[in-house]
Amino acid sequence: MSFSALRASVRKAVFPAPTVARARVQRVPAFRRFNSTQSTPPPSPNKSYTGIYAGFGAVAVAGVAFYVYSSQSDSAKAAGTALKSGAQAAKVAANFVPTKEDYIKVYNKIAQVLDEAGDNDYDDGSYGPVILRLAWHCSGTYDKETGTGGSNYATMRFAPESAHGANNGLQVARGLMEKVKQEFPWISYGDLWTLGGVAAVQEMSGPKIPWRPGRIDGFAAQATPDGRLPDASQGAAHLRNEIVALSGGHALGRCHSDRSGYEGPWTFSPITVTNDFFKLLFDETWVWKKWEGPKQLEDKKTRSLMMLPTDYVLTQDKSFKKFAKAYAQDQDLFFKDFSAAVSRLFELGVPTQQFVSSEPWILPTVDEQKS
Ligand code: HEM
Repeated sequence: MSFSALRASVRKAVFPAPTVARARVQRVPAFRRFNSTQSTPPPSPNKSYTGIYAGFGAVAVAGVAFYVYSSQSDSAKAAGTALKSGAQAAKVAANFVPTKEDYIKVYNKIAQVLDEAGDNDYDDGSYGPVILRLAWHCSGTYDKETGTGGSNYATMRFAPESAHGANNGLQVARGLMEKVKQEFPWISYGDLWTLGGVAAVQEMSGPKIPWRPGRIDGFAAQATPDGRLPDASQGAAHLRNEIVALSGGHALGRCHSDRSGYEGPWTFSPITVTNDFFKLLFDETWVWKKWEGPKQLEDKKTRSLMMLPTDYVLTQDKSFKKFAKAYAQDQDLFFKDFSAAVSRLFELGVPTQQFVSSEPWILPTVDEQKS
């Protein structure tokens, strides 16, 4: 199915046949705001569907882009040869060549920052979800046609990209990462933000995300235009599991009405990586939420969880459904595919020559370093 067909399915999404609701156990006590979605009247939305379609577009771009990446666009190749690697640039700037251990120190600092959310009474007790969203939004702008975008130049630092509707709320994550940057000024923003995504997934009990440094800081002129959409005709069956796996990122975090217009979490454990997003999609009955805000679904039983129309389409489109169902039934399979897809997503558009190692690294979690 092409991207335009996908959008059409989103628009036409119909209700599933009623399913037998089954009791669920709340798995993460730290999920402090769970009831707030039930008791608080939903505020008015400030945004339309545009962002969500753009977001889905970016996923498809990412998926498609990976498969054409090996042939690499000329402009990306030129950028790669013209510019020094991240490590070289860091050396010039700070007369310092960071080792793997130095990157692990940055990882540990990020892990510490994630937990500060608990002290600040932020959302569900971790900054992990919003930091993962930053990593995804800085990578998902990659455009295979022009070889531009992606995490390489970290152009979301610049207006107007920083103010694109799809990036609403990410100033929170960029601000947190800035604190880390001050302690480790030698790291590029693209490396920092993607490493943030790696730390978020790994520290929230997710799979290891292979990662390596080498991104360099770019300029405002390299910022990407708003609403990047994929070339629908490039869609291919073998991309689908990657797109579906990436969507499982919605196991984490929540929507904020003052950011996207949507409201609420997808799962009962929004600061733990699980396959619950997929399980809930199939196990619960989803109905359109009656409210003033943008069209979103809520679970019929508790009315406290949400799904975006683009999430729901994973159960409606046959070729997506196949993978979504497989992930619902097998968390190990989801972890394996999510890890591979996120790792590739974070490298989209980064010229291979810039990476400091030929293979991505597997970084230890904070707990693993203690044992
Ligand atoms: C299929 C395309 C996607 C669409 C349309 C989409 C859309 C959205 C929207 C509307 C929000 C709510 C933002 C807010 O109000 O704070 C959100 C949040 C989030 N998204 Fe996505 N997203 C997509 C793909 C992804 C991917 C690929 C990942 C990661 C691999 C991801 C990770 C997240 C996370 C972790 C949050 C929660 C952020 C928070 O709690 O602050 N999303 N997404």
